[in-house]
Amino acid sequence: MTRAAILGTGSCLPRRVLTNAELEKMVETTDEWITVRTGIRERRIAGAGEETSKLAAEAARKALAMAGVAAAEIGLIVVGTMTCEKAMPSCACLVQKEIGAVNAFAMDINAACSGFLFGMDVAEKYIKADPTLKVLVIGAETLSTRTNWEDRTTCVLFGDGAGAVVMAAGDGERGMLGSRLFADGSLWHLLHMDAAPSLNPDLVAADYQGPFIRMAGQEVFKYAVRAMQDGVAKVLAQEGVEPEAVRLVIPHQANIRILNSLTERLGIAPEKIYINVHKYGNTSAASMPIALDEANREGRLRPGDPVLFCAFGGGFTWGAAIVRW
Ligand code: ACO
Repeated sequence: MTRAAILGTGSCLPRRVLTNAELEKMVETTDEWITVRTGIRERRIAGAGEETSKLAAEAARKALAMAGVAAAEIGLIVVGTMTCEKAMPSCACLVQKEIGAVNAFAMDINAACSGFLFGMDVAEKYIKADPTLKVLVIGAETLSTRTNWEDRTTCVLFGDGAGAVVMAAGDGERGMLGSRLFADGSLWHLLHMDAAPSLNPDLVAADYQGPFIRMAGQEVFKYAVRAMQDGVAKVLAQEGVEPEAVRLVIPHQANIRILNSLTERLGIAPEKIYINVHKYGNTSAASMPIALDEANREGRLRPGDPVLFCAFGGGFTWGAAIVRW
């Protein structure tokens, strides 16, 4: 059976670090509040030349180098993002040009923080349909461009960055075992971000306040924990993998308390959950591939290890996947 394996990983973070101490000078907050409630100590903020597509392209170059795959061998580029510097063309097309992946078709997926997970799933389906295909899956965001820097309830949470993987048909048992993806659009209002203002006066939203992220934090928290737990349970049952057999969990890095609650419910040892939210905050679709790349480069993954991915984001969208490394 053809399985889609991850051949290489890469990530790219903006140079500028924004610490909690600096945020204390921007809004009424404290390092202690942010650390205790979220686990975040600092995040990266993109500067000149670090647009979403540029971060994505650099992460892609690193993943290609690790995989030993040339850009021209890539047949498909999928980017999970909701913060590309252009609404058209897609971030994936900008990456294609930037890295010279001249033989690839390219598209974005907007599944908010679940974008990378949904992208991996799309890649897996294409690779199963055509086992010669090599796919770049990227999660890339510059949430700093869509953050209300006067709103302390959201501006402390987010950061910028990108991560990428190269996927292709694996040999033997290696590759994605299965996935489960979900959405519930009826809850969109709990976590949302308006697009650029309408130029059609009849379609200007009455409650338009700017293209910022808006969120009902406590509601999001509850749904995120329950939904990710449910997604993980379903994918493990589907693939007949016991929770104890999971070697490493690469979760979406939203908030340390969400991850702690999830860990308790999953029955997976805390040391198996990879966490880097303290360094980068919530980078939305970029968080999982950045975490995966760091875990990989730290030698946390060994051939044959079952690796569990789980995500939750605006939509709501959520899901889980299990990959044999
Ligand atoms: N600094 C200081 N005080 C603050 C801050 C801040 N940055 N933000 C809010 N507060 C205050 C509030 O005004 C409130 O004050 P009050 O009691 O006087 O009214 C108090 O802190 C408590 O506010 P809550 O919203 O109840 O705080 P809570 O414990 O729920 O923590 C948080 C807020 C961190 C946002 C939490 O709800 C959360 O983590 N939610 C999940 C949201 C999330 O991660 N979203 C990311 C996108 S979704 C995803 O990626 C999964």
